[in-house]
Amino acid sequence: MASTVINPLRDPRDKRLPRIAGPSGIVIFGVTGDLSRKKLMPAIYDLANRGLLPPGFALVGFARRDWANEDFEKVVHDAVLQYARTPFSEEVWRHLAEGFRFVQGAFDNDDAFDNLAATLGNLDRVRGTGGNHAFYFSIPPSAFPVVLQQLKRSGLCDPHAEEWRRVVIEKPFGHDLKSAQELNSLVNDVFPSDSVFRIDHYLGKETVQNLLALRFANELYEPIWNNNYVDHVQITQAEDIGVGGRAGYYDGIGAARDVIQNHLLQLMALTAMEEPVAFNPKDLRREKVKVLSAVQLPKDLSVGAARGQYAGAWQGGTKVLGYLEEEGISPKSTTETYAAVKLLVQTRRWSGVPFYLRTGKRLGKRVSEIAVVFRRAPHQPFSQNDTEELGSNMLVIRVQPDEGVTIRFGSKVPGPAMEVRDVSMDFSYGQSFTEASPEAYERLILDVLLGEPSLFPQDEEVELSWKILDPVEKHWARAGGQPQQYGSGSWGPKCADAMMARDGRAWRRP
Ligand code: BG6
Repeated sequence: MASTVINPLRDPRDKRLPRIAGPSGIVIFGVTGDLSRKKLMPAIYDLANRGLLPPGFALVGFARRDWANEDFEKVVHDAVLQYARTPFSEEVWRHLAEGFRFVQGAFDNDDAFDNLAATLGNLDRVRGTGGNHAFYFSIPPSAFPVVLQQLKRSGLCDPHAEEWRRVVIEKPFGHDLKSAQELNSLVNDVFPSDSVFRIDHYLGKETVQNLLALRFANELYEPIWNNNYVDHVQITQAEDIGVGGRAGYYDGIGAARDVIQNHLLQLMALTAMEEPVAFNPKDLRREKVKVLSAVQLPKDLSVGAARGQYAGAWQGGTKVLGYLEEEGISPKSTTETYAAVKLLVQTRRWSGVPFYLRTGKRLGKRVSEIAVVFRRAPHQPFSQNDTEELGSNMLVIRVQPDEGVTIRFGSKVPGPAMEVRDVSMDFSYGQSFTEASPEAYERLILDVLLGEPSLFPQDEEVELSWKILDPVEKHWARAGGQPQQYGSGSWGPKCADAMMARDGRAWRRP
């Protein structure tokens, strides 16, 4: 039986040393899906390669496919070769793959779950997983009830003495407040709340965590991080790709439910929240909940929200399909592929400062960022001519792909005149650090195994986020009709530009 890694050089008091997971295993439901191949399997390999998984680690795939253990191993192997971040090491792979098992069956098949229980029991004995297992739900929410029921029936959700059992849930977590509440109560009926880990992979990104360091470890920003100095905030998640092979999931869901409800509202909460009492899960969540509870939508949603759908276009010599022409999408679909909303945070700090959130597919480029746009200086001693090219000061947290922070401010153009023009000062992860950033899923999977819940939204946050979004969805459903078309490769529909223009502002071109 394998034992836990104990590094004799490691001083347990030194928190900077890597945190290594104890004996444990992960069971993936929905293991034949895209997420599993592109994100989960590579992340597990990368963790193993970084020495962060214990020797007693196991990965169990559960699916209907008629695979033997060897077939499963081959699928993981191919996924690792194609998508892993770190170089392939035969030695790491061999050891990791010895802990792979595949259990074949349907979710409503009792025998399959009994077989799963027997497989985990066997792994505990031969691999040394120690009775600690995480059940990863990479499945549609419609399959949650039956899988939860099976975990309960087979006793898999009940750990003995020192063991743990955890459930990891991928979005979408419901499609509105009511369905999210129903799902929460189903999950909470089987797993205690401290064993439930809801994934929002944006929180696993280094740059998102850096937002907390930037705000609370420094003295420079916090004094101006309020409505005395900030004019508005723009939070953007843009992609240049279309819906791809995800039509089945995406159509009927749309951009707002897919990205605003989770990733963008979490980014907003981290941008707007007060300093937590301490950097621990309870205090962090408490501050995020306060922000989400203080969010208000504009009264008139026809001017406070905008939606669009991408149309076909020529992009770099290739014709890309419009949303309605994509495979698997109904030609009459009213699903939005672009969504923007204006939110107000009704607190002393943020009163009067709008937060504009936007997301879309097939936009100009792939970029996620938070731009804090400052007020103009109250007085300019320079002539209007000289400051013609001076914009607003801005602090931009570049979440991806070019991770870092940009500060934009005015500077004198060399020469005899007092001409002032915008320049920027950049911090870039690539230049400042030698370590490459881990993938979000590496961090989050490791945190699940360590039982560290800080980066996982809890049920109250999820429900509050739906509460914010539901009126927007209802408004669009009532309004009916087709979302406004926008050209692929553009920056979204005209109605979104008009929404900003009415406030005397404009979207940033990242
Ligand atoms: C997912 C959405 O949560 O985030 C996808 O379901 C989107 O539609 C993806 O493409 C974007 O993630 P990232 O990390 O590439 O910005």
